[in-house]
Amino acid sequence: MLSKFGVFLFLVKVSSSIILNLNLTTSGYYDVNLNFFRWLQSAPTYFIVDGTRYNLSDKSLYSNASYGGNGVDEFGFYQSMRYRYYVGKTIIDCSINTYDTGNYIVFEQRFVTGVTNSRPQSCSGDLHCYQQTTGTFPSFYIKKGQVKNLGYLNFGGSMLGNSEVKTGQWDKTTANLTDGMGGGPIAIFDESGNTVIISPLDNLMSSSFWHEDYPGGRVNFGVMGGTKSIPVNYRQRFILLASSSINKAFQDLGKALRKVSGAAPKKDFYRQNDVTLKYLGYWTDNGAYYYYNTEANKTYEQTMNDIFDYAQHEKIPYRYLQLDSWWYYKGSGNGVKEWTARPDVFPHGIESVQQYTGWPMGAHNRYWAVDNVYARQNGGKYNFLMAPLVAVPNDASFWYDFMKNATSWGLKMYEQDWLNVETLLSNDLAEDLFLGERWLTEMGNAAEFNNITIQYCMSLPRHGLMSTKIPVVTQARASEDYHVIEDQWKIGVSSMFANALGLAPSKDTFWTTTVQNGNPKYPKKQELWPALQTVVATLSMGPVGPGDMIGATNKDLLMQCCNMEGLILKPSKPATAMDIQIIKAAFPDIDGPDGQVWTSLSEIYGDKTTKFGIILAANMSKPYKLRAYQTEFPYQFYDSIVFPYNKPEAGMPFNGKSPLNLNGCTSDKLCLFYLSPIIIVGQHTIAIYGEHDKFVPMSPQRVTDVIYTEDDMVLQLVGVPSEKVIVSYLLDGVQKNVTTVFSTSGTAQISLVLGKTSHVKTGHQRPLAGPFNGFGKRGV
Ligand SMILES: *[C@@H]1O[C@H](CO)[C@@H](O)[C@H](O)[C@H]1NC(C)=O
Ligand SMILES: *[C@@H]1O[C@H](CO)[C@@H](O)[C@H](O)[C@H]1NC(C)=O
Ligand SMILES: *[C@@H]1O[C@H](CO)[C@@H](O)[C@H](O)[C@H]1NC(C)=O
Ligand SMILES: *[C@@H]1O[C@H](CO)[C@@H](O)[C@H](O)[C@H]1NC(C)=O
Ligand SMILES: *[C@@H]1O[C@H](CO)[C@@H](O)[C@H](O)[C@H]1NC(C)=O
Ligand SMILES: *[C@@H]1O[C@H](CO)[C@@H](O)[C@H](O)[C@H]1NC(C)=O
Ligand SMILES: *[C@@H]1O[C@H](CO)[C@@H](O)[C@H](O)[C@H]1NC(C)=O
Ligand SMILES: *[C@@H]1O[C@H](CO)[C@@H](O)[C@H](O)[C@H]1NC(C)=O
Ligand SMILES: *[C@@H]1O[C@H](CO)[C@@H](O)[C@H](O)[C@H]1NC(C)=O
Repeated sequence: MLSKFGVFLFLVKVSSSIILNLNLTTSGYYDVNLNFFRWLQSAPTYFIVDGTRYNLSDKSLYSNASYGGNGVDEFGFYQSMRYRYYVGKTIIDCSINTYDTGNYIVFEQRFVTGVTNSRPQSCSGDLHCYQQTTGTFPSFYIKKGQVKNLGYLNFGGSMLGNSEVKTGQWDKTTANLTDGMGGGPIAIFDESGNTVIISPLDNLMSSSFWHEDYPGGRVNFGVMGGTKSIPVNYRQRFILLASSSINKAFQDLGKALRKVSGAAPKKDFYRQNDVTLKYLGYWTDNGAYYYYNTEANKTYEQTMNDIFDYAQHEKIPYRYLQLDSWWYYKGSGNGVKEWTARPDVFPHGIESVQQYTGWPMGAHNRYWAVDNVYARQNGGKYNFLMAPLVAVPNDASFWYDFMKNATSWGLKMYEQDWLNVETLLSNDLAEDLFLGERWLTEMGNAAEFNNITIQYCMSLPRHGLMSTKIPVVTQARASEDYHVIEDQWKIGVSSMFANALGLAPSKDTFWTTTVQNGNPKYPKKQELWPALQTVVATLSMGPVGPGDMIGATNKDLLMQCCNMEGLILKPSKPATAMDIQIIKAAFPDIDGPDGQVWTSLSEIYGDKTTKFGIILAANMSKPYKLRAYQTEFPYQFYDSIVFPYNKPEAGMPFNGKSPLNLNGCTSDKLCLFYLSPIIIVGQHTIAIYGEHDKFVPMSPQRVTDVIYTEDDMVLQLVGVPSEKVIVSYLLDGVQKNVTTVFSTSGTAQISLVLGKTSHVKTGHQRPLAGPFNGFGKRGV
């Protein structure tokens, strides 16, 4: 493998469309090529030892390259190339592992002797070094590769990296990326969507990347810069993977992280059973009508009970209640002092509302105040680390007692908000390699023990990555608070990241009608696009939780999310921005959509799995012709029918010859389309629109099975006794509607060729479909 030129050539994998390989030199460089063109040029490795930075480039760091042997890890059989770095008595091994299977490479730093004083010397006083790395491997220059144009997508900041997400061109003009403690994985792509992603693979709370010397400059991947010393044999891995699509590259990253964590099957189970993801709920979060606002002259307790009465009267099937930050005690720096109900808010305790409504609770929490009542420092009984501005629980028993106590008032979903502030304001979390992981793991274990799920809010990308190891973290907020910014609904890009991590993205609460005057916090706010809000929440697979004023709910609009008892009729994959939208954002001159174009998918299980597509287009300033090959739907859709929302009679072909014209898809006139493959049954062809008046007309929560007989295709439906469902489809090109009303059995069958409905149960016993995780595995 070592050629006479002193160059290693590692061929990683030849797949149908992507070839990833490395050009390794014995002197410590490792360029990354895609399809035989250089994409990434390696930059010199450095490490900080005893407070001094040693660089490969200036020969202060010597590398001794050797074949590192082979072995087996989570990803299978690998071959390793190893660079051993010496600084005095300090030894650091950097390895590159390549695999027989998969388009990926693992980079590993192993601190064989450990490192003392791994912080930059500048790291005193201004804590700028917190945003850097203690060393780097890998490291790449930011400049054009040997392909025409490269673009990037850089998640960063709060709301799962959505608040400072950046996209643009990857070249010597690239401005500052969102890096350091707030940074996330970086995707680099070309104009056709070929993508390379680089992300940490372990120690997810204590690794970082650092954009050095911008514009252009280089990206360094390493141990977070606040770390004072690194223990003997500490190991940090990063994965670099390649794919032919941006969306697929994120799926592959999620798959790799989930493989390392091993928590995916349990997470899928919690996600499927999370009442706040399964059912419609009522929310009081920022932007909701009752956010720091009650009915006139009433307590929150009375107001919440009145919401219940209104919902009962209107038959709006809310199934849980979310309590935002207005109910507990705040202390220093507006952090939480005591997480119990204030008597002015709930005079009879949250229990009384829980008993009156029967609703399970989702409840918000924020960063811990340094004067919180639980900390030993303040006379409490639990261990906390006191950073200057916030406190960090450092005590498993704290979290067990905390979650246990909350079960007494029906807590089912714990919303940990302000994760960014807790992390960015705590020096301990920026300096201790193990604290971040321990903090979130102890929180998760205690929640799991008490059968409580968790939503992360204001999470940095690192919290999202870490959540792959914590089964009960089922969801994460994917954008700013409702009403704070108008574009809050644009979660298509962050949903791609959330979905990869196995999380349901949350759009946050919304109003279902335009005018709801009277909240002093938002005296003049209006909701201009209630339908858009409701559709986005429904397609997200995250919570559908309006926060309307009593008397102001548009029930006909809202109930298109759900069945009659509030079960959300979801797709199988959250709607995510199409590759072409992201590529267009990086390369404004290419032919792409000016606006939001997202796709989603329902998988209906049966004799064979049938996939139905969903396209959402909104906020487009110009028409765009979408081609079938761009949609990334399975091959079957290359010959398919596309139906506009609630127009089953207007089905059109969608295939290689017939694009879909996205025209007039603005925010107030969003476009929704549904795709069905053309299914051949005996002598007939069938294309299915599905259920009328639902945003997801073919949902696995409604259609539980498809049975093919010799000359018919039968849909097995579930619903609520007395609930009426109209199903539309094309039979040999002729549009049909079949109506069914569920009897007490709650099941019905529709024979599409016969055009008949019956209530006979099938012999098939199949579990409800789980969340789509993108790699063909169903949840438990
Ligand atoms: C590999 O990298 C070396 C050093 O940068 C360069 O001279 C050589 O041309 C590269 N080879 C290939 C096949 O890219
Ligand atoms: C290492 O390289 C960086 C960037 O070129 C430079 O700023 C720094 O002074 C070098 N450090 C040492 C110890 O030579
Ligand atoms: C380089 O590594 C090889 C193999 O591990 C070892 O035999 C050799 O002594 C090393 N050279 C130096 C200068 O450390
Ligand atoms: C870097 O980007 C952030 C936005 O993410 C911006 O607020 C900041 O001013 C930029 N810093 C520099 C030095 O350009
Ligand atoms: C609330 O109380 C104030 C002062 O007691 C009174 O003026 C007002 O009419 C009351 N409002 C309602 C809606 O009962
Ligand atoms: C849980 O409740 C007990 C009994 O009221 C109390 O002593 C303890 O401090 C509480 N712990 C937490 C973490 O809420
Ligand atoms: C856990 O909670 C879920 C959802 O609320 C519920 O369906 C399940 O029965 C609970 N499991 C246990 C063991 O209590
Ligand atoms: C797109 O959204 C922005 C922000 O909400 C809005 O200002 C603009 O008018 C919208 N454009 C279209 C065409 O919908
Ligand atoms: C089926 O229902 C849709 C929606 O109500 C209607 O537009 C269409 O005309 C109906 N088709 C037939 C054949 O009745």
